[in-house]
Amino acid sequence: MLKIAVLIGSLRQGSYNMQLALTMKERYINKMDLEIADIRSLPFFDQDIELNPPREVHALLRKIAAADGVLIVTPEYNWSVPGVLKNAIDWLSRVDKVLIGKPVMTAGVSPGVMGTIRAQLHLREILASPGIQARLLPPAGNEIIISSAALKFDETTSRLVDESTVRHIDRVVDKFIEFAKQ
Ligand code: FNR
Repeated sequence: MLKIAVLIGSLRQGSYNMQLALTMKERYINKMDLEIADIRSLPFFDQDIELNPPREVHALLRKIAAADGVLIVTPEYNWSVPGVLKNAIDWLSRVDKVLIGKPVMTAGVSPGVMGTIRAQLHLREILASPGIQARLLPPAGNEIIISSAALKFDETTSRLVDESTVRHIDRVVDKFIEFAKQ
């Protein structure tokens, strides 16, 4: 079974993006093993320590290197990627460059109507940069951009329940699994 590391761009308790990641972890448990990576404890990226980084950085690098693919689930902050996620990606872009060629799919949830589209576009640009060069699932038909989150997540269970959105994600996940195996 594919081992997929998950990066989540929100640290907030009750994060919709975390709720989406947990919904996917549970729903696709027989298809892929989603393991959420800790990015909360990473220090700010610092080029002075990149050759001898603290163990939290080593742990993340090892986790990504060992994964068959990466799922990034992120909110949009000020029309872009949250700093905490960018910081993690910057660590991953140096020294061993563990994202090069790594299959990646992205998703995002927002309470507003735009569903993180600007953050997703920035994220794709970042993922194509020279130190990263991730193998991104082609976005056409595969975008997971969830708007109006309050209407689509169950307040009690904290899981995505909107049926058409769930069915769309089912299809994208199947395509990602094929893509990651290639
Ligand atoms: C936001 N939010 C937001 N939403 C959006 O659709 N576009 C945006 O540019 C921003 N900008 C922004 C900046 C900052 C600093 C915060 C804290 C929030 C709102 C955001 O989508 C909302 O708080 C989500 O609920 C955050 O995702 P999680 O934490 O629920 O996963």
